[in-house]
Amino acid sequence: MPSQINDEKVSLIHSSGSSVEVYFFGATITSWKCGGKERLFLSKDSKLDGTKAIRGGIPLIFPQFAKASEPSAETANLPQHGIARVSTWKWLGVNVDNDEELTARFGLTDSQVPENFHKEWPKKFELIFIVTLTADTLKNTLEVRNKGTEPFGFNALLHTYYSVPDISKVSIKGLNDITYIDKVTNFTRVQDVKDSITIDQETDRIYENVTRDEFLIDLGQPGGVGNFTLKKLNLKDTVVWNPWIGKARSMSDFGDEEYKNMVCVEPGTVTEYVKLEADKTWEGGQILKVQL
Ligand code: BG6
Repeated sequence: MPSQINDEKVSLIHSSGSSVEVYFFGATITSWKCGGKERLFLSKDSKLDGTKAIRGGIPLIFPQFAKASEPSAETANLPQHGIARVSTWKWLGVNVDNDEELTARFGLTDSQVPENFHKEWPKKFELIFIVTLTADTLKNTLEVRNKGTEPFGFNALLHTYYSVPDISKVSIKGLNDITYIDKVTNFTRVQDVKDSITIDQETDRIYENVTRDEFLIDLGQPGGVGNFTLKKLNLKDTVVWNPWIGKARSMSDFGDEEYKNMVCVEPGTVTEYVKLEADKTWEGGQILKVQL
């Protein structure tokens, strides 16, 4: 039974036992299991009924990351993190199903987004989100097509929440020597010289122009099981986020203690808008590979 579908979500189940679950709301991946373990964090307090963006898994951020900093930006009136994560996507079916991999596709066009957002960003576009599952990898690709007659600019980001047994044991390698914008200290620019990132306080950083495409994320699973490699595909920036104690308490859809069990490592293109000409397609994504 490679896929199961109901009104709210699709589950893909690979012959190895790995699986992935995708809600139509936001085309949000909410679960990825492999090697018998859940790899993604989903808050126990997350809404899953379409009234709020899903808190966990892999929400898709498009066409605006955070709130636009320039009031004149064409995405200035859109909500934080844009419209893709709060729109209901169409299921476009499974198009590869063999012993190696299962691939499913989801689509969103401007005619499907809520009317108020469409008014604020009246662009003609088509998004295709492609989810590919193997025994030990999860690949996500986002295609953006400009269906209008004028160019438009956008941000895109895969807001990936990893499940971790103990945040104090997490380390992320591959971002050393890269400048980041520290949102916690009023957007100061900092050069990261540490060999690996560890998290022991509120962390909200945008690593800019990350030239390395592959990082190692050690999620501190006992015995080293659960280390990941993250490969970015055509996404130049990477956000690292953990709300820590104070912010966790202020979020209604996040448990007070859950900051200990998650970290977000979010590849995207967010420090500059991608400019997409009419009739053109842009593609970006990530491949997550677990060391089983
Ligand atoms: C991260 C941002 O990507 O998302 C943070 O860098 C933000 O600043 C976090 O707090 C969560 O955002 P939201 O809109 O899902 O609460």
